[in-house]
Amino acid sequence: MGLRFKYNIALLLTCLVGIAAASGVSYLVVQKSAVREIHQAIDLIRANAIAVRSYTVSNITPALSDDSDILFFPETVAAFSAQSVFQGFKKMFPEFSYKEAALNPTNPDNLANEMETGLIEQLRADPKLEQISTVVENDGNRYLTVAFPLTIKQEGCLMCHSTPEAAPPAMVDLYGPNHGFGWQLGETIGAQIISAPMSIADRRAEETGLILIAGFTLLFFLIFIVSNVLLGRIVLRPVRRMSDVAEKVSMGDFSVPEYRKPGKDEISSLSHSFNRLRRSLERAMSMIDV
Ligand code: HEC
Repeated sequence: MGLRFKYNIALLLTCLVGIAAASGVSYLVVQKSAVREIHQAIDLIRANAIAVRSYTVSNITPALSDDSDILFFPETVAAFSAQSVFQGFKKMFPEFSYKEAALNPTNPDNLANEMETGLIEQLRADPKLEQISTVVENDGNRYLTVAFPLTIKQEGCLMCHSTPEAAPPAMVDLYGPNHGFGWQLGETIGAQIISAPMSIADRRAEETGLILIAGFTLLFFLIFIVSNVLLGRIVLRPVRRMSDVAEKVSMGDFSVPEYRKPGKDEISSLSHSFNRLRRSLERAMSMIDV
C-alpha cells in the first residue's frame, strides 16, 4: 500500500468524521434558534389574543350587555372574540392553532382533550408555572404546543361562571346550566393552548445542514487536491528518485548521477546524506578492488 493511498485514506476518514460532527452540531444549533423563533411567534399570537380579549371587555361588552336578560351575544365574551378573531388568522396560517381549553367549559367546543387536560393539570398543580411547552405529533407532523394558564383573577368573571343563578338568564338559556360554572377565584380553570408547526425549524436545520455538508465537501476536495500535489512534489517524487538511485547503487552501478533535492527540508538533507554515504561506499569499494 503506497504512502499516497495511506495518506488519502486517513484524510478521507478524518474529513468524513469532521463533516458528520460539524453538520450534526450545526443542525442542533440552528434547530434550537429556529425553535426560539417559533416560541416568539407563539408569544405574538398570545399577545394578540390578550389584546382582543381586553378590547372586547372594554368596548364590546359594555355596548351589547344591556339586554342580557333577553338576549345574550357571545360576541361580548372575551374568550369567544379571541378565538373567533384567530379563525381569521388561521385562514392565512392554517398550521397554527389557538384554543382556550377548559376542564369544565361553558362552550363544549372548548372542552380540553386528553393532551390539553394533562397540560392544564400540570399548570393547576404548580401555580408558579407561567407556561409549559411540549412537542406534539399529529398526522406525521410535529407541532410546538405551549400552554399558558387561564386563571380567574377577577370577581367579574364569577358573574357568569360561578352558578347558573348568578349568570345572565339569556346566557344560561343559550349554553345550559350544566357546564362552565363552579369556577373559583384564583383557580386555573383552563389554558390558552397555542400550537405552531415545527416544520419551520426542521426545514431550516436541514437546509443549513445541507449547505454545510456541501461546503465541507468542497473544502475536502480542495484539501485533497492541494495536499496531494504537495505530497507528490515535496515527499513522494524525491523519495522515489532517491530509491531508484539507491537501487542501482546497491547493484554496484555507480554511473547513475547523484540526486540532490534542492531546499533545506528533511528530504533534502536525506538526499545529501545519501550522496555522502554513496561516495563513502564508492571509495570503500574502489579500495577493495585495488
Ligand atoms: C357575561 C358573562 C361572562 C363573563 C363576565 C365572563 N365569561 Fe367567560 N365565558 C362566557 C361564555 C358565554 C363563554 C362561552 C363562549 C363561547 O361560546 O365560546 C365563556 C367562555 C370562557 C372561556 C373558554 C372556555 C369555556 O368556558 O368555554 C374562558 C377561559 C373564560 N370564559 C374565562 C373567563 C374569564 C377569565 C372571565 C373574567 C375575566 C370571564 N370568562 C368572564 C361568559 C362570560
